[in-house]
Amino acid sequence: MSLADFVAELDALVRDATAAFSAVGDAAELEAARVQFLGAKNGRLKTLQKGLGSVAKADKPTAGKRFNEVKQSIESALESASQRLTAAVGPATDARWVDPTVPGAPMRLGRLHPITQTIEELKEIMGRLGFSVADGPEVEDPRHNFEALNIPPEHPARDPLENFYLTGGVAGEACPLSPCLLRSQTSTVQIRVMEETPPPVRIISCGRVYRPDTADATHYPMFHQIEGLLIDRDVTMADLKSTLRLFARSAFAADVHIRFRPSFFPFTEPSVEVDMSWRDGWIEMGGAGMVDPNVLRAVGYDPEEYTGFAFGLGIERICARRHGITDIRELYKNDVRFLHQF
Ligand code: FA5
Repeated sequence: MSLADFVAELDALVRDATAAFSAVGDAAELEAARVQFLGAKNGRLKTLQKGLGSVAKADKPTAGKRFNEVKQSIESALESASQRLTAAVGPATDARWVDPTVPGAPMRLGRLHPITQTIEELKEIMGRLGFSVADGPEVEDPRHNFEALNIPPEHPARDPLENFYLTGGVAGEACPLSPCLLRSQTSTVQIRVMEETPPPVRIISCGRVYRPDTADATHYPMFHQIEGLLIDRDVTMADLKSTLRLFARSAFAADVHIRFRPSFFPFTEPSVEVDMSWRDGWIEMGGAGMVDPNVLRAVGYDPEEYTGFAFGLGIERICARRHGITDIRELYKNDVRFLHQF
């Protein structure tokens, strides 16, 4: 490019820029003009600067000097337009005054608690396996928490030292379900669903349960369980195991291991403890088994026709293992620095 052409283009640029900056009427227009003329990437001045390279070597000092003058003129046109707008809006003490050059403050977005996130994911996983979601109350009567689950009155699981029994309602009124308790397991929902629904049944239920356990790295007096219940014809232990294996592979990863240990629950026969291992040692996740015929009878199902499996897993332990949390008490300290990581 010849020196004359370069200078002519600079003159046109300064003319256009001066006209544009004197015409701007608000902060948005000012910013648009700034980007158009002084934008660091595709601004017209930046584009023209590239032409400087093609000016003959001998003319470069003159061209460069002129370029700098034009740059300064455009910058002061921007500055005066900015001052003109500020003066029009009002002084800094005016409540309507806005400084368009202050960078925006990033908004702090809230997020779901990791337990809530885990519950949502577990519901989705089980939804893909055809399980719908059921709910039940946290304040329960002994029939749903114990009797219909084949837990007789003398059973140690009903001991006041093992449960939070409620003696009075709000402001000293008698508890309407009296005697009642905070449910100690989500297995109560099995009963509530079966009482209301004829078989087949295929549900999960996630929610809070309460036990007077001493808090430690794997225990908390209030925690969450996911309960699963499937009742149909010809359901076997193999169905239970394959369902839990599919669940574990989706909740953790394909290389998760799952094992059953013989156990006892009054409401399942046979019963197992379910352990899972992923990345680290084995951890007890919950209990499971084939629904005891006595439970089916208690809700009016015919155990000769229907069989089923049930499981109940601890959600805190699932959440902790997935995220590498070594102590579930962290989940309830409400330290936002911790919670913000999930
Ligand atoms: C039960 O609660 C049975 N209702 C499970 C069940 C359902 C068995 C259906 C058969 C058929 P258990 O008491 O083992 O079982 O508790 C299940 C899981 O809840 C435990 O494995 C553990 O993961 C979790 N859990 C138990 N107590 C606590 C606690 N205090 N804090 C955190 N998680 C707990």
